Amino acid sequence: YQIIGIIGAMNEEIELLLKHTEIDHTTEKAGMTFYQGNLQGQAVIFAKSGVGKVNAAVCTQVLIGLGAECVLFTGVAGALDPRLEIGDIVISSSCMQHDMDVTPLGFARGVIPYQDISDFAADPDLVELAQELSRRLFDGRSFTGKILSGDQFIASRETVKELYEQLGGIATEMEGAALAQVCWLNAIPYVVIRSMSDKADGSAHVNFAEFTGKASNHSYQIIEAMVARL
Ligand code: ADE
Repeated sequence: YQIIGIIGAMNEEIELLLKHTEIDHTTEKAGMTFYQGNLQGQAVIFAKSGVGKVNAAVCTQVLIGLGAECVLFTGVAGALDPRLEIGDIVISSSCMQHDMDVTPLGFARGVIPYQDISDFAADPDLVELAQELSRRLFDGRSFTGKILSGDQFIASRETVKELYEQLGGIATEMEGAALAQVCWLNAIPYVVIRSMSDKADGSAHVNFAEFTGKASNHSYQIIEAMVARL
């Protein structure tokens, strides 16, 4: 890729990108700052989207408009799969919106009506590279599966069970599926990398506050190693 696009939603998630990238210039668009520069000898463009699906969608479209040929997301998520521990890595095989709900009209939960795809597959080559690097960097504490996104911070055992059992998600966050959908609309490859800050349960708010820094750091390590190889 000539230019790799990278998005994080919060300060913690882009902090290490800001620290390690040689920034050439910045562009202001849609109230967001897009940083263009060099990371690991590779041209990158990255931004902080802000939290939630609308921010992520707008950020992704602008990033593609500015020349990003693939899009990587780096950040934290709540674990749904009981095998996951805080700090573990999740690589998206696909992303879906768990809060898309048109069930009264007969559509399954998560399905976007009248659209071919609602569960957006990540690029297989980006997934494979992320898997190889996270195996090496995190010694097996890395899982690949469906990431569920919604404009909700999940903090209950019941909801975790529902999202895991009914929708098959292994982690939940608030941006991935929006980014994935915009990439699908533009035929641009993507992958979401997340490290677990919490288990989306009754302790999620406390764990999130404590572990977002550490988890963001884990996710960044994968992104940096990927960029060096792309
Ligand atoms: N990001 C990190 N933890 C989360 C949670 N529990 N719910 C939604 N987004 C998250």
